[in-house]
Amino acid sequence: MTTDFSIKPHSANASDVRPNTRGLHMITWGCQMNVYDSARMTDVLRPLGYAPVDDPAQADMIILNTCHIRDRAAEKVFSELGRLRHIKEERSTEGRQTVLAVAGCVAQAEGEQILKRAPYVDIVLGPQTYHRLPEMVARAARAGGSVIDTDFPAEQKFDFLPDSEAPQTAGNVTAFLTVQEGCDKFCSFCVVPYTRGAEASRPVASVLAEARRMVASGVRELTLLGQNVNAYHGEGPDGGAWSLARLAYALAEIPGLERIRYMTSHPRDMGDDLIMAHRDLPALMPFLHLPVQAGSDKILKAMNRGHTADEYRRLVERLRQVRPDLALSSDFIVGHPGETDEDFEATMQLIRDVGFALAYSFKYSIRPGTPAAGAPLQVAEAVKDERLQALQALLREQQDSFNDAVVDVVAPVLFTGRGRKPGQMVGRSPWLQPVHVDGPDDLVGRTVPVLITERRSNSLVGTLVEECMPA
Ligand code: SAH
Ligand code: SF4
Ligand code: F3S
Repeated sequence: MTTDFSIKPHSANASDVRPNTRGLHMITWGCQMNVYDSARMTDVLRPLGYAPVDDPAQADMIILNTCHIRDRAAEKVFSELGRLRHIKEERSTEGRQTVLAVAGCVAQAEGEQILKRAPYVDIVLGPQTYHRLPEMVARAARAGGSVIDTDFPAEQKFDFLPDSEAPQTAGNVTAFLTVQEGCDKFCSFCVVPYTRGAEASRPVASVLAEARRMVASGVRELTLLGQNVNAYHGEGPDGGAWSLARLAYALAEIPGLERIRYMTSHPRDMGDDLIMAHRDLPALMPFLHLPVQAGSDKILKAMNRGHTADEYRRLVERLRQVRPDLALSSDFIVGHPGETDEDFEATMQLIRDVGFALAYSFKYSIRPGTPAAGAPLQVAEAVKDERLQALQALLREQQDSFNDAVVDVVAPVLFTGRGRKPGQMVGRSPWLQPVHVDGPDDLVGRTVPVLITERRSNSLVGTLVEECMPA
């Protein structure tokens, strides 16, 4: 899954704070699913009077939503908790209480240790129990101590989302919507099956209802999320299981929903009907995140990915046949146990053959408890560094040339907000490129043609061509 591992205070609608409301400060690390979960926790807490604040010192509740995907995750959590403890203590001397909660994948994996090492934490909750937050807040207040909930409950948290309140996405043009969660694939290197639990899909009706609420609040582009989103098999209104393709056709019918994306897909679950949906649905954007991780069959096998490099090449070919403008992005791991120079070269060759518009690449990082952690032939750190550098240089070249190719092209851009400079607006192209133009505020929420004039390192610059377009 595409990841942004920087600290990202999630504080949309921060201006919303009214007197008598309690401040909620959310810190979100990790993947988009955590971003989605943070927004839903905010929704769940709103009926209790909590509203987002930017400044943790103004917060009556602070939630640290954590990620466990690579090493030092726990250390990072404890050092952040140290900082938050100070804030909590300072507020306490002023007679103000602060509920401190740790959520997400580190909470799931290391909940007990967190309570042992940081007893000032009030609440520890795993990714599957955020709907129980209100109850936990009450229990923590009653107990005067810490509470922990890292169950994998039988009920689905999605069934407990408040639907009458304005969702946290209100005012946003783009939004994430989790449709599937968990993973049964057990790749050799990965903690997700342990932190997110078994694969499960939300029922179609629940997804459609949430999508309609989001669109009614102004959302124009939805990204359907799942650890293996294309393994989606939610219960349909007819009682049968719907595929992701079928769900996409139904979503495309929602008036006002202009764009649909989904991530993260697994190559093994890329069914024919989903490929055909890319041919049939203009709303399905021509940009697909399809992680391959490596290009050597030996390493793909060791990773338990369930496909060969050539199977991936053929899959990409079929996708491009039905949707020639489809751009691809991927994740890569260098230095998986057993990876030789030759294996690494096979990854480089796959990259040259496919051509990626964007990619995220990582050095293999040992995750205790996963099969690869104890595997022989661990690769030396210096070798990983070298390979990562070479891989990233190639991917950078590909990204730049992909972005260069849209210069002088007119592309439909969906505007999402103001840019950094006055008078500047920012939007995104169908291929997920950020585009900056000079234009009026009322562009937000609209898709308009833009002539791309310049490529910057990670974004594009363009000019509006609305005036010259026939009405
Ligand atoms: N479900 C997605 C991946 C989710 S994890 C998929 O199957 O592709 C996001 C990314 O983190 C992965 O694609 C992988 O590239 C990277 N990653 C996961 N575990 C890792 C590890 N132990 N070391 C390095 N990178 C890892
Ligand atoms: Fe992790 Fe593999 Fe599952 Fe992706 S498919 S979440 S990499 S175990
Ligand atoms: Fe991280 Fe958990 Fe997402 S480990 S990548 S936050 S599923």
